[in-house]
Amino acid sequence: MVKIGATTSATEGFAPELLAVTLFQGESPQDLGEDAAQVLSDGDFSGKLNETALLYGQKGPAPRLLLVGLGERNTATPEKLRRAAATVARRARALELREAALSLPALPDVDAREAARAAAEGARLGLYRFVKHKSAANPHEPETFWLVADEEELEEASAGAEIGEKVAGGATLARDLANEPSNVATPEYLAQRAREIAEKYGMHLDVLDRAGIEAEGLIGLATVGRSASNEPRFIVLEHRREDDKVPVVLVGKAVTFDSGGISIKPSAGMEDMKFDMSGGAAVLGAMEAVGAMNLPLNVVALIPATENLPGGDAFKPGDVLEMHSGKTVEIVTTDAEGRLILADALSYASRYEPSAVIDCATLTGACVVALGSHASGLMGNDEDLIAEVEAAGETSGERAWPLPLFDEYTEQIKGDTADIKNSGGRGGGALTAGAFLREFADYPWAHLDIAGTAYGKKGNAYTTKGGTGVPTRLLVEFLIRRTP
Ligand code: BES
Ligand code: MN
Ligand code: ZN
Repeated sequence: MVKIGATTSATEGFAPELLAVTLFQGESPQDLGEDAAQVLSDGDFSGKLNETALLYGQKGPAPRLLLVGLGERNTATPEKLRRAAATVARRARALELREAALSLPALPDVDAREAARAAAEGARLGLYRFVKHKSAANPHEPETFWLVADEEELEEASAGAEIGEKVAGGATLARDLANEPSNVATPEYLAQRAREIAEKYGMHLDVLDRAGIEAEGLIGLATVGRSASNEPRFIVLEHRREDDKVPVVLVGKAVTFDSGGISIKPSAGMEDMKFDMSGGAAVLGAMEAVGAMNLPLNVVALIPATENLPGGDAFKPGDVLEMHSGKTVEIVTTDAEGRLILADALSYASRYEPSAVIDCATLTGACVVALGSHASGLMGNDEDLIAEVEAAGETSGERAWPLPLFDEYTEQIKGDTADIKNSGGRGGGALTAGAFLREFADYPWAHLDIAGTAYGKKGNAYTTKGGTGVPTRLLVEFLIRRTP
């Protein structure tokens, strides 16, 4: 895996094979040498976002100079830098270089630490590939990626690079878990990965098996998982740093394969339902980063993990469940399984008297219709918490967009034979799902519907087809902001 470090250009022995410099659109710095000046004046490169020009035979510390566009100066953001850094790292890989460097730009209102963090995240994530099950893949990876800073900002840049590496490490774990097929990433496999995190960072872990889930009264989870021969698990991973403080609880939906159950899904595209555990994967990714940074916070991860399959013992439309909280739920469709397992996790979270609970879930196709792949749906019962999550999304580059939870959505899910039902029909599908979850949250709570953002059909500068790791970085940013 590429090592990311900060350095100054004056550092002895600094001789990367490629040095990248970002340029704002329409600006032509004087100090890049004649070739760069020529490329700019010829109009071959104008600094448009993610535009590149590669020059050879340069006099500076590196034989190759890569110009990368950042777009207009006053619209430059850490997210654009993240993408530019990824573009540089990918070019270095394509050229099979060992060492590459990126000169950190000064962005408006962004300090050196934040810039270095964004660039480190971009470089690391840009190089991500999921090739574990391929028998032949080009093994070349750059060994070192330098972030070049001014002397007086070196310390901040180093700190930022380190944070960026750890955050990207968490997102990488989330991607790996999400990309894993469901015959590998079973509920027990996720528990095993949680066990590794617990051991590495001294966290506390409890894993409930089928009998434990039933004994705890997690009826939603037990019911969805009843017909699967890969047993369900309820994973409780606790990072305890401050004995007297109430924790933040992260909840992640981990349906390792969602066939729809008896309300079976159409077969076209069903293979993507291996990604239905992306919420749980992101929560584990966030815990990995929390452990690596050893954040001085109490954080609890709750991951209900199960398959959703038809079978002789499967639950059926019309069934009524008495949930962990005591509320009764009428099953309209067994394909609305995510809210059933999340509801139990949310009512389980109550025992911590948490300061905030954030759940994330590939919950509804309706959210994909509403927001596409450009933002996660954000709902909740606390305006301040929603604003905090939204801000964390903006900074991390994992955008979340607020959606309403009007009381009318709760009306829509009133049950005929039970308190509530697990589907409110076609209208406002993301919101009726959110309204359903709200019934089980008696603390400040926010919900992220990541059905459109957790995985994709095509990548961007720093994502590839498949798992994106969303919303790992959002969650970590939220926690960093909560750190005293
Ligand atoms: N896992 C799906 C949601 C989903 C759909 C995620 C498409 C990603 C892409 C969820 O369990 C589901 O099936 N939801 C249903 C709910 C409906 C039956 C009330 C949906 O969105 O169609
Ligand atoms: Mn489903
Ligand atoms: Zn699902």
